[in-house]
Amino acid sequence: MEKTKLILDCDPGHDDAVAILLAANAPALELLGVTVTAGNQTLDNTSRNACNVLSWLGKGEIPVYAGCDRPLVRDKMIAADIHGSTGLDGPVFPPRTKFPEKGHAAQFLIKTLMASAGDVTVVTTGPMTNLGLALRLEPRIAEKIRQIVLMGGSYTNGNVTPAAEFNIIADPEAAHICFSCGRPVVMMGLDVTRKVLCTPDVVARMAKVNNRASRLFVDLMGHFCRTQKEVFGWEGGPLHDPVTIAWLLRPELVQLKGMNVSIDLSHGPSYGRTNCDYFGYLGLPETARVAVDIDAGGFWDLVEAGLRSYGED
Ligand code: BDR
Ligand code: CA
Repeated sequence: MEKTKLILDCDPGHDDAVAILLAANAPALELLGVTVTAGNQTLDNTSRNACNVLSWLGKGEIPVYAGCDRPLVRDKMIAADIHGSTGLDGPVFPPRTKFPEKGHAAQFLIKTLMASAGDVTVVTTGPMTNLGLALRLEPRIAEKIRQIVLMGGSYTNGNVTPAAEFNIIADPEAAHICFSCGRPVVMMGLDVTRKVLCTPDVVARMAKVNNRASRLFVDLMGHFCRTQKEVFGWEGGPLHDPVTIAWLLRPELVQLKGMNVSIDLSHGPSYGRTNCDYFGYLGLPETARVAVDIDAGGFWDLVEAGLRSYGED
């Protein structure tokens, strides 16, 4: 079976950490590298977190590249209310042994994509700053990107403003560059990621796996689910970012609908909104396939299998 090659660009972040966990050990995927941006926390925090998660999982050989420490245009925003002062509050890691490689994440994206046969998927689970910058630095990478699969946006409600979701409003200009680069875009927005709530029964189920990966999952969800309840009132944390990896592994889990999607760059109340023409009012070409439904039971089966794949301690 040919593996799907991917680069995971992220801002760990509790749900990013679970996306890394699933991507790093899936036999069907070849994780070429993890690129990191500022987002849920500062770049120092998010890049340390990516390194710690990979080390904890015994995946220290997967390279991490630190990228942009701020958005392309707007002021920096972080999500400390959800992810805490470290960006990954909850788990306690041993003293650090892994550090980012030399070189900027955007340069790693450019080098890897230009050397590829056009078969590399770029998954983004944070602000799209690194990929947006890479596309501006070397526009020829566009034709080399097999597809962009992102967690971000919403065709219903936002989670930072009524209109906008965090990953898009944290760098709307970068999202615009990525959405308009001409390559296939698959958007996993809040509309579906809010259907995979990590409720206490899910945490209890994953705890029974009882290996390194599941203990990390349980520690992550302890913090994440508490803050999601405080901020949004959910009974469980929406496991946003791993939906991207779940779709790569089992596309039948997520129902997609082609739409024209544009990013609101107006600096008004809808700044950072993904304007998704669900009903095709505008008669404009489809620019993205947007997730509209998910098989939540199948998703949790996949997460459990991902945890089990790390074997016994
Ligand atoms: C997204 O924002 C971040 O806080 C999460 O990691 C996820 O990528 C959800 O809006
Ligand atoms: Ca994220």
